[in-house]
Amino acid sequence: MSPSTTVPVLTIDGPSGSGKGTISRRVAETLGWRLLDSGALYRAVGYAAGAEGLDLSDVDAMTRCAQTTKIRFHAAADGSDTRVLVNGHDATDELRTETAGAAASAIASIPSVRQALVDMQLAFRKNPGLVADGRDMGTVIFPDAPFKVFLTASAAERAKRRYKQLKEKGLSVTLATLQREIEARDARDASRTVAPLKPAVDAVFIDTTGMGIEDVVAKVLAVVRP
Ligand code: C5P
Repeated sequence: MSPSTTVPVLTIDGPSGSGKGTISRRVAETLGWRLLDSGALYRAVGYAAGAEGLDLSDVDAMTRCAQTTKIRFHAAADGSDTRVLVNGHDATDELRTETAGAAASAIASIPSVRQALVDMQLAFRKNPGLVADGRDMGTVIFPDAPFKVFLTASAAERAKRRYKQLKEKGLSVTLATLQREIEARDARDASRTVAPLKPAVDAVFIDTTGMGIEDVVAKVLAVVRP
């Protein structure tokens, strides 16, 4: 058993727009634990590949890209959003777009790309604990995590939440297009053969449709501190 397995992990998996990002951040802050936004890693590799003009369906090129892309998270001193540096460039804003989400989902179905990102994710497991946000946190990356949650919400509500989020960030999107894109991305994430989006058998399933953020945070915290 490696020493890191004594460090508690709360995995929060679920489809896009289920509220994972916001909830994970809030819960990590409350517990004083570290946060792993694993989606940002896939987005960063997709972004780096695009910046180099690589073909996202070229398995060898994507694998090399995942192995060599330098990804750094920088917490802003003023408490605003964590910045994501991709090969030294602050790509935080570019990574938020649905285009970056779709590119991430495309390369995330390549097993060797996923493999290349495993160690980086495991390295986040440090005391006093880790909140890990993603699709396969409880099933593949931290299967021994003592606390697991699977968040979901109706497709319509997830699209509305993402719409609001992207609008607030000043991005131009339409709700109908976004709903189509999100459904396509979720279908691909759920049907891929490697690490598909699915709840771990021991995860607490929370349907957040119609729930406010505070209520979801309280429910998730209750999993760690019953
Ligand atoms: O969570 P986020 O929307 O940032 O993730 C972007 C994409 O990255 C997802 O649609 C999924 O394809 C991929 N992903 C993944 N495994 C994770 C996190 C994200 O395959 N643990």
